[in-house]
Amino acid sequence: MTLPLIDVHTHMYLPRYMALLRQRTKVPRVVSRAGGDRLVILPDEEADTSTSAGRPIGGEFHEVSRKLAFMDQHGIAVSVVSPANPWIDFVEPEEAPALAAQLNDDLEAICAGSAGRLLGFGVLPLQRPETCAAELRRIAGHPHMRGVIVGSAGRGKGLDDPDFEPIWKAAADAGLFVFIHPHYGVGHGLFPDTGHAMMLALGFTFETSIAVALLILRGTLQRHPALKLLIAHAGGTLPYLAGRLDSCVKNDISKDFGLAQPPSHYLRQCWFDSISYHPPALAALEAFADPSRIMFGTDHPFFRPHVGDAVLDRTTWPVPEENLQALASLSPARQKAIAYENGLAAFGIALP
Ligand code: URA
Ligand code: ZN
Repeated sequence: MTLPLIDVHTHMYLPRYMALLRQRTKVPRVVSRAGGDRLVILPDEEADTSTSAGRPIGGEFHEVSRKLAFMDQHGIAVSVVSPANPWIDFVEPEEAPALAAQLNDDLEAICAGSAGRLLGFGVLPLQRPETCAAELRRIAGHPHMRGVIVGSAGRGKGLDDPDFEPIWKAAADAGLFVFIHPHYGVGHGLFPDTGHAMMLALGFTFETSIAVALLILRGTLQRHPALKLLIAHAGGTLPYLAGRLDSCVKNDISKDFGLAQPPSHYLRQCWFDSISYHPPALAALEAFADPSRIMFGTDHPFFRPHVGDAVLDRTTWPVPEENLQALASLSPARQKAIAYENGLAAFGIALP
């Protein structure tokens, strides 16, 4: 079955941000090499021999025409584009609010010029939490912005950082999505010399799982039932572990979190992308989540296929294909819901 697709997990480094990464001599940075530019952004990436060369980065990361070419090649009608990790985490606090606003305005302009193909998630200057609610309200006035992407680590103190409370309130009041996405990983000291594989497969997903679980246990989704959280990578591990989380919270003799409902109740308030690569994992997400809150994603332009730049835009990327193959394990009605119907409804999209 060929489905029109709405891609809710797809990234860009905006040109202004690329220029910043190119200037830097420390991680995160873009290094120019004879064989092509390399992206070095992950913690310890430069120190570990298996990852010190980073990953190849080309125009597919920062050129709008390349995003549109990828979308055309893969039957994606509309993409909700988010800046990629590590966002502006490394920027000095006094510079972050202005930079966030510039990047959000840049993305709005790109989306406005895309003839309905692109919508956006902005960034927040998390190192200055007291400025974030105002930036959210400003973004809410941008016709093509649908929310913000927020790293699972927050400003290094997790998402349950008490100073973030105004962020959740402002996002809920404005009806904007908060897309929770990993960057730092957890446990990477435990798996040296494993390339990017363990970090991206397990480090990333557990980082997200821990951050969202804590947000729930501290009552954020109880206080803000209208808050729209979109959780990356099919919820990390949470659809699979939700029952264990409920049981461990209920049977803990040492801590009462004071929640009116089990954690899974609040987790079910969330939205999820379908990036799982595996029918059993997608089945767990399907069995757990609100059926109207699972939406297709690609994670483009990460996991670039090993082909030359000249043919990249005419190549079918294996990773989105793996996601589509997993989707094909569901009924036709559920495939349609995840591929585009849920995205159309969630983001108020009229197909171009
Ligand atoms: N690798 C990253 O650094 N980010 C992603 O979103 C996916 C893979
Ligand atoms: Zn991603």
